[in-house]
Amino acid sequence: MKILVTGGAGYIGSHTCINLLELGHKILVLDNLSNSKRNALNNISKIVNIRLNTDEGKDDVFSFVQTDIRDKESLEKVFARQKIDVVIHFAGLKSVNESIEKPAEYYDNNVIGSINLFEVMKKFNCKTIVFSSSATVYGDCNVMPIKENFPLLPTNPYGKSKIAVEELLQNIFKSDPTWRVGILRYFNPIGAHKSGLIGENLIGIPNNLMPYIMQVAAGRLKKLNVFGGDYDTHDGTGVRDYIHVMDLALGHSKLLGVLMKKPQILTMNFGTGIGYSVLDIVNTFKKVSNIEIAYKIVNRRPGDVAICYADPGYSKLKLEWEAQYTLEDMCKDSWNYMLKN
Ligand code: NAD
Ligand code: WQD
Repeated sequence: MKILVTGGAGYIGSHTCINLLELGHKILVLDNLSNSKRNALNNISKIVNIRLNTDEGKDDVFSFVQTDIRDKESLEKVFARQKIDVVIHFAGLKSVNESIEKPAEYYDNNVIGSINLFEVMKKFNCKTIVFSSSATVYGDCNVMPIKENFPLLPTNPYGKSKIAVEELLQNIFKSDPTWRVGILRYFNPIGAHKSGLIGENLIGIPNNLMPYIMQVAAGRLKKLNVFGGDYDTHDGTGVRDYIHVMDLALGHSKLLGVLMKKPQILTMNFGTGIGYSVLDIVNTFKKVSNIEIAYKIVNRRPGDVAICYADPGYSKLKLEWEAQYTLEDMCKDSWNYMLKN
């Protein structure tokens, strides 16, 4: 199959490309490189041993086009030049804090960009799409584990932009039930490919826990601020559902297999169902790396929930897939990537 991967140079996209190329699919990455580097694509090419083609017009096994999903003309050119069977849509902005500061930018990138993409898909009769949503759509949910049918109450523009796209996809499917749509709500992806050649963007001061721990471990930042030590959790720190990015990658291929069977719309959590606290991560990281992470418990971060983990039952049932990597694997692979970069 020929798969257009928007945002394929980014963190989750690049790992998914590896999996799809290994399964024999043809991949065209479309990315504006706003939060990634071209080198990620060269490294995918090394890992799978398939040449990267940057001649946009050529229908090769692995190719790349640098453009923006908001540039409709350029999207149309891409679809006109080659027959795309499936789109996996990772492209978007993903920082909760930044979305509060720049809401219009988030709606523009995540919503307008997606509308463009879906319109062009329709025009070229490409009706299979997998969309990266987020656990953030559940907002401040106090019943665990989280099931897909729980209320959607996001507390920030980023989460609202994800819901807008989810709803649009629901409406597209209602208007034309021959579409095949997958909506994936990822929990907290961490880890990296075992080669250490690709991983999460290391630029700037991270917002998320694992990249922050990596920077402390590497000596680039002095200590980790642990946001809140008085939550009602086993050690007082926030609990999340961390999932290895290679598990996520495989989940996408499994979903494609199911979507290929018949037109349908599926919305599912991608998580492990296991909650770990901030201090569980700090301690497991120490165990696998022998590096002590200096930390200080500070005030809670506004907008944070105490506990958030998935009920992975539906994705397990539908895809016959579940996460395999352990927290130790995730810490080891994140650190391996940091060491190599
Ligand atoms: P990422 O920033 O590493 O990757 C996104 C990629 O999209 C980047 O390469 C970026 O350059 C590209 N991009 C952004 N806007 C674009 C545009 N307008 N046109 C073309 N390319 C564009 O992020 P990621 O962690 O790989 O996340 C992928 C998707 O999964 C995103 O939609 C994100 O919202 C979602 N998600 C991520 C997480 C997470 O914690 N990483 C969790 C839940 C959901
Ligand atoms: C994890 C835990 C923090 C940093 C976010 C988005 C979500 C999804 C994944 C995109 C929490 C604590 C963190 C630090 C800390 N992304 N923490 N010190 O907030 O669960 O989810 O990323 O869709 O939408 O909201 O992830 O990694 O920021 O935080 O103590 O310096 O680590 O309080 O308990 P979060 P995170």
